[in-house]
Amino acid sequence: MTTTRSPRVEPVSHQIPLVLALVPAAGRGLRMGGSIPKQFLSLGGEPLIVQSLRTLQAAPVVDQIVLAVPLADVEYCEKEIVLRHRLTKVTKVVAGGVERQDSVRYALSQVHSETEIVLIHDAVRPFMTLQMIAEVVAAAKKEGAAIIALPMRDTVKQVRVDGTIERTVDRAPLWLAQTPQAFRRDWIEAAHTKAHAEGIRATDDASLVEWLGHPVSVVEGSGENIKVTRPEDIVIGEAILASRMKGRESGEKSPKGRRSQSRRPRESS
Ligand code: C5P
Repeated sequence: MTTTRSPRVEPVSHQIPLVLALVPAAGRGLRMGGSIPKQFLSLGGEPLIVQSLRTLQAAPVVDQIVLAVPLADVEYCEKEIVLRHRLTKVTKVVAGGVERQDSVRYALSQVHSETEIVLIHDAVRPFMTLQMIAEVVAAAKKEGAAIIALPMRDTVKQVRVDGTIERTVDRAPLWLAQTPQAFRRDWIEAAHTKAHAEGIRATDDASLVEWLGHPVSVVEGSGENIKVTRPEDIVIGEAILASRMKGRESGEKSPKGRRSQSRRPRESS
């Protein structure tokens, strides 16, 4: 991969970041098929990772960003993602690990010991909003840990291995976890360190903090905050982008322009 123009380095704040964002982007995207990791696929004419990073860059509450990418793509990302798009809050690009949890752990090792809040966001959720970031960070500052999640809207079935339904599960207390997720630095560091030492594996960071016994709050997110996982998600993503552009042009508020309410699971319907 080559640099097509000289990148210009913007000044970066080297002050201690009170809120530091970690962006795991080191997956190989095997479920998408093809050879390009999904975080680098084009969405609206740009690698979709750029959309996620731009929102973090624009968030007043985020001081710095650490990015974890595949080892082979570290240089490409420094030049073609960070410098080219003037993502001045990205202070480090580190090589990720075999699993997402390893990538987050490696990125966590770069966090300053005086950082208060660590915000973790998957690069492949390009439709996170400034409002989500503000709300989840505020909740984490107050309660110690918070995640963006969505109440379950479909009816949930527990299915036997033979393909028949065993029972219908009460969906009222069920929420789907998304990112961003925000944590007190000492909680998330302790959770990852202990999980690594004991061989505990989880698919999100909140699970590890829960496992340590800390309460984690839930802030209601948006159905638009999709995780790009399958090829059809790119089609859905282009439609979300187009509708946001249209909303901006006509001066309308996008669905996420409304104030969402932080809700506790017990209030779900
Ligand atoms: O695979 P999954 O969809 O759960 O990946 C979520 C995020 O974690 C993606 O942004 C992906 O790039 C990242 N990831 C990572 N290191 C890995 C695997 C996934 O940073 N080894």
